[in-house]
Amino acid sequence: MIILGIESSHDDTSVAILEHGKVKVLKTFSQIEIHAKYGGTIPEIASREHVNNVALVLEELKQEYDLNQIDLVAYTAFPGLIGSLQVGFLFANAIALSLNKPLFPVNHLEGHVFSAAIDEEIVYPHLALLVSGGHTQLIYKETPYSVNIIGETSDDAVGEVYDKVARKLNLGFPGGPLIDKINLNDFVSDINFSIPKTEGKYDFSLSGIKTQVINLINKYEMKNEKVPVEKIAYAFQKTIIKYLIQKTQLAIEEYQPASISLVGGVSANKELRTEFLKLHPKSIVPNLKYCTDNGAMIAKAAQIYNEKNK
Ligand code: KG4
Ligand code: ZN
Repeated sequence: MIILGIESSHDDTSVAILEHGKVKVLKTFSQIEIHAKYGGTIPEIASREHVNNVALVLEELKQEYDLNQIDLVAYTAFPGLIGSLQVGFLFANAIALSLNKPLFPVNHLEGHVFSAAIDEEIVYPHLALLVSGGHTQLIYKETPYSVNIIGETSDDAVGEVYDKVARKLNLGFPGGPLIDKINLNDFVSDINFSIPKTEGKYDFSLSGIKTQVINLINKYEMKNEKVPVEKIAYAFQKTIIKYLIQKTQLAIEEYQPASISLVGGVSANKELRTEFLKLHPKSIVPNLKYCTDNGAMIAKAAQIYNEKNK
């Protein structure tokens, strides 16, 4: 089966061709440079950019692949920015109509989870830690088709906190990759933030860490002292990673999954990937190109769900 996967839920316009389970083409048009000027994604601008980008991405795709071979058109249906999702849906619908092939809606979060199945095999029961700009969840899957969200954030998502802390530190947008880079220096920081407490065993609360960081920066600023940007970013990331790893470890002990995966945009984080791999003998951290939003994960989710329907 040949599947076209289309992702447009946030600020990436991405298409992929999955040929019998293997990624043949992946094209992503990012809007990061445009939104970076504003320090965050502006939904109205994102939808307008998607309108331009779908035309460009289609042009490139047509040069590399004969679209007439496609059997199914999969697209991100929800969740995401409404205007951006609508552009993706209309684009997918137009292609499906012109090829006379079926359309298949995919949940964006399922897409992230199945990004782990692109290069490796997920064995069940499976536990996924989904960390992105909009979500932070621990998902337990008894089978590919069951979804049990055993824990989630009660406030900010991990990626969102990375972005907000980076903005406060004047590092730029998106903050995750910028803070990740600082961490590569691997120096010792004498700054410590406390691990948040949450009622639900597997739930997360991330706004407290963000507040601790912001309060500390304000203290330096009020005293007219230089803000130790790198030390703060480093300590912030250490705390976040420790927290995510601790929670996942707890869930592994109780649920005894046969495999685990780290998915979503924040899974591109180098140190988090290293620590996550140590948690389980069958731990999957997807290739970096499948961590942030992409069309391949949407096509993969569609393939897996269509196998069920057979
Ligand atoms: O999954 P994604 O591309 O979009 C959403 O569905 O939200 O995730 C984007 C998020 C952003 O908050 C970004 O800062 C974060 O993923 N991110 C990272 C890294 N790369 C992207 N966070 C930490 N370390 C990274 N290397
Ligand atoms: Zn995403």
